[in-house]
Amino acid sequence: MLNILVGGFYGDEGKGKVASYLGLTDSPSYAVRTGSINAGHTVTLGGKSWKIRIIPSAFVNNKTKLALAPGALTTMEQLFYEIQTTNSEGRLIIDPHVGIITKKEIDDERNDENLMKTVGSTGQGVGYAEARRILRLLKLAKDYKELERYLGSVPDLIISELEKGNLVWVEGTQGTFLSLYHGEYPYVTSRNCTSSGVLSEIGVGPKYVNEILIVFKAYVTRVGNGYLEGELSEEEAARSGLLEVATVTGRKRRAAPFNVKLAKEAIRINSATQVAITKIDSLFKEAYKVREYEKLPLQARKWIEEIEAELKTPITLIGTGEDSMDMVDLRKERVGEA
Ligand code: IMP
Ligand code: MG
Repeated sequence: MLNILVGGFYGDEGKGKVASYLGLTDSPSYAVRTGSINAGHTVTLGGKSWKIRIIPSAFVNNKTKLALAPGALTTMEQLFYEIQTTNSEGRLIIDPHVGIITKKEIDDERNDENLMKTVGSTGQGVGYAEARRILRLLKLAKDYKELERYLGSVPDLIISELEKGNLVWVEGTQGTFLSLYHGEYPYVTSRNCTSSGVLSEIGVGPKYVNEILIVFKAYVTRVGNGYLEGELSEEEAARSGLLEVATVTGRKRRAAPFNVKLAKEAIRINSATQVAITKIDSLFKEAYKVREYEKLPLQARKWIEEIEAELKTPITLIGTGEDSMDMVDLRKERVGEA
């Protein structure tokens, strides 16, 4: 059974938190990360916090094996740093085709005015590495001796798991409207971050897909440039408790209210079958750390039900706090899953 998690807005929807919750509750045999180190996922569990950029957030379940998809890219430094901090030595498989970003791509990107000033790139060298991969110049994981002990064909492994009937969760990165093809070009990232893009990065066809869970935050944020409908001023965002700081770059995130029109479009582009809403406690303070639907404040439940009626897709997970386990899980009631 292949389940996919994707971002519904402009990234930073809380995919890391949701993916870590799913790792703990569903105990998938594998969790697969796609994308690259421009994406920062934050995981908080039992008072401990990790900011990760390449290891799947489901690492918090030490029984889950971890894989990096052929379409993923990383620097060697970030990879080894995270292997250590997430304790994933011995259970991490890196596809030989994972792209390796070097100082050259990072320097080239940081000297690129169009990317750094106009687009507002995170400056991690990902776009340059993708470009060099397309030009058949980039070195891959298989070219690095120090990675030999981690290498294995991820598509082969994942398909074998699926044939055995085991559960695999795929952790997409960024958000639908940062997609190279589906976002507001050129204010986009260097890959297609929708469900179909994620599948092609792994090398698994759509026939195995069971659920596509799209993650929306209870409000919209965007870092970097491009249009943001209903954008609040920094003061307004701060006053409403919606001002965030980016994980990778430390920039302030621009904020706007929840956008139903964008959410509907994202559900269509991703063929999403379920919706997760995170950070509901930023809109309704009494929702903080609540784990049962009936215990959510009435206003929060009304808000959820109104949005669900508009989106015509079941809202199955509701994030109520920073801890991985601060979650209302309605999957059993809504779609009959555990
Ligand atoms: P790049 O992918 O680093 O070149 O950045 C291109 C655009 O995508 C910029 O607006 C970035 O702020 C945005 N972006 C890239 N990755 C993320 C992410 O993980 N979260 C939010 N925004 C991102
Ligand atoms: Mg992020």
